[in-house]
Amino acid sequence: MDQSGAHFTLTVATSRNGLIARATDDAPQTWASPEEQALFFRDVEAADWAIMGRNTHLAADKPTRRRIIFSSRTNGWQRPTQLWRDPTALTPDDLAQQVKHLRPLQNGLILGGTRVHDWFLKHNAIHRVHLTIEPVTFVNGLPVFTDQSGSDPLSIFTDRGFRVLSQTMLNDTGTQYFELAS
Ligand SMILES: NC(=O)c1ccc[n+]([C@@H]2O[C@H](COP(=O)([O-])OP(=O)(O)OC[C@H]3O[C@@H](n4cnc5c(N)ncnc54)[C@H](OP(=O)(O)O)[C@@H]3O)[C@@H](O)[C@H]2O)c1
Repeated sequence: MDQSGAHFTLTVATSRNGLIARATDDAPQTWASPEEQALFFRDVEAADWAIMGRNTHLAADKPTRRRIIFSSRTNGWQRPTQLWRDPTALTPDDLAQQVKHLRPLQNGLILGGTRVHDWFLKHNAIHRVHLTIEPVTFVNGLPVFTDQSGSDPLSIFTDRGFRVLSQTMLNDTGTQYFELAS
């Protein structure tokens, strides 16, 4: 938990070779299972604020959802629910301070993509991970973290010190779901 009391959960779906998308406009709902999507929307409903990069936001703009959107080109409140910020000189606590007048950031949901994951990892602010591994393989695509070397999705997290809390098989096609903690 950060000084502000914010608790951040990273929810991410990967291919079995550890990629989150085939391209910057490849939304997970085109390849993820219905079971993953149900868990994803559970996390979205539970969050006070979701934090994401510009591409992820633009792939599914939801004006009624509270979002903090990372961008080096756009800054400020673009809608009453959407704060755009360049996070380079900010901390996770700064984000909480900037939205607290609207809704305190207690449960933050990290929605990606890669550089957003990097930023939270650098700040030691990924407290929980909800990882779904879908039984698909992408030839090319975007990694979970920029400096990722291996392709096993679970090792991407356990190699960085996260520990597995639970493991569930979500369906008959082989979708696996893990909860991890930092
Ligand atoms: N499988 C999953 O769970 C999952 C999760 C999330 C996203 N996705 C998919 O991944 C793709 C998008 O991922 P992505 O990695 O291309 O994009 P992204 O992080 O959504 O967007 C990248 C843009 O966000 C801004 N940004 C992100 N981090 C920043 C930082 N630390 N500092 C400043 N600006 C930052 C920059 O915008 P500016 O160019 O404006 O500076 C950057 O060009 C989409 O297909 C999306 O659907 C999948």
